[in-house]
Amino acid sequence: MTAVGIDAMEIWTGKLKLDLAETFAPAQGDDPGKYTKGLGLRASSFPDVYEDIVTMGANAAYRLMDRKGLTPEDIGRIDVATESAFDNSKPVSTYIAGCLEQVYDENFHHANKGERKFACISGTQSLDDAYNWIRAGRNRDRAALVIATDTALYARDDPGEATQGAGAVAMLVDEDPNLVELSTEQGYGSADETDFLKPNQQFPSVDGKRSVNVYLARMREALEDFAEVAGDIHPGDYEMIPFHTPFPGMVRKAAALGYRHIIRGTDVGDLMAEEIGHQPMRADFETDDEFHAAIKEYTDALTETERYQDWYANTIEPTLQISREVGNWYTGSVHIARAAGLKHARENGLDLDEARLLVASYGSGAQAEVHAETIVPGWEEEIGALSIDEQIRNRYELSFAEYEQIHDVHNHEAESDVEEFTAPEDEFAFDGWGRMGERKYRYVE
Ligand code: CAA
Repeated sequence: MTAVGIDAMEIWTGKLKLDLAETFAPAQGDDPGKYTKGLGLRASSFPDVYEDIVTMGANAAYRLMDRKGLTPEDIGRIDVATESAFDNSKPVSTYIAGCLEQVYDENFHHANKGERKFACISGTQSLDDAYNWIRAGRNRDRAALVIATDTALYARDDPGEATQGAGAVAMLVDEDPNLVELSTEQGYGSADETDFLKPNQQFPSVDGKRSVNVYLARMREALEDFAEVAGDIHPGDYEMIPFHTPFPGMVRKAAALGYRHIIRGTDVGDLMAEEIGHQPMRADFETDDEFHAAIKEYTDALTETERYQDWYANTIEPTLQISREVGNWYTGSVHIARAAGLKHARENGLDLDEARLLVASYGSGAQAEVHAETIVPGWEEEIGALSIDEQIRNRYELSFAEYEQIHDVHNHEAESDVEEFTAPEDEFAFDGWGRMGERKYRYVE
């Protein structure tokens, strides 16, 4: 069977930065440790005045196509995943294609375009759609462009405000990929939940604490479902595990839960039992509360062990390094986690040819999905082409007053006439409104 997977990717961060410890925490009257240690975040990215989900997505896609020497004729499908869409009918992919047609002589009239919605998991679902389209033999030798783009903004003073972020990830899905091959095995955990939703409103209604528990519950189901199809998982099977990362503290909890799950019945589980005792079993407790207290105590002990900390340092920590600097990108988050892990591996000279990743996606509402990927030769060159470090360094750093202004700029209900903080250069920029209320864009040289 021909390999199908992600051939190359590009990342585009919003061009403004809010430092959480230095700027946000003092204004909120909070200890910076809540953000840097508790949530695990240093900063958030924000879109400048002329940036939005279309410009960020189009800029990531253009860089990708340009670097790979592609033209519209090479692309048969453009799938956009977002939970920040501004139109209930016209998909963001049409706007992005319109932008790209400004810089290419050819057009995308032959390409199937769509928009996927299921909170943050829709980026992964769009990868699936592209994979299935190619596997079904409907692609006529063309590749798919999958773009995950979001402005993850919360209402001011919402507890989620500290986890905001904005950026886009563009991925080229093709046969014989140069980055990762996608596996056919997938596990799901899916249930009708009201943890985080946007019922025809821009900013989410969030039950924050519950959303954390729903993430963990659905992720556990997805892991169990994955093991049913792929067989038991051993902690040594996967080089890294990129999780959906609303904030790194969430992944800290998910990783402990996942590790507890995957060491059961393995030599690692036996060694851990010798060190800290056996995992609590529900049958041994009279009430759920007693059982949950025992699980918490066991998990605290487990995360203190050297064995767990080594595993975490190698398998999880590298995947969090971009998220810490940019915040939550919703649909793009798990994909920047994969990129961060591979970037770390490249920078540290790790040989990952044919190594495996376990990718754990999540979307509120709610669904988790787990699948495996095989890293293929060529990955180092693809990852080495990313410019995300430079983009992160070059962001304009906002004062708190400027943050308040830019939040208003992107709030559909607020009036604002703030000037841009940076100047667009060699990129797409928002250029005002058309006669039917559509957004207009131009390429700025
Ligand atoms: N030093 C060190 N740690 C500190 C600290 C300090 N000074 N002060 C607080 N902390 C720790 C807390 O103990 C806590 O850690 P634990 O959870 O491990 O106990 C952490 O910092 C956060 O503190 P709080 O729980 O008090 O923070 P909060 O209640 O103000 O906000 C939140 C947390 C509810 C998750 C909020 O950020 C939120 O609503 N976020 C949006 C929803 C979200 O991201 N949910 C995640 C799952 S849903 C999902 O993944 C989809 C998605 O993308 C949105």
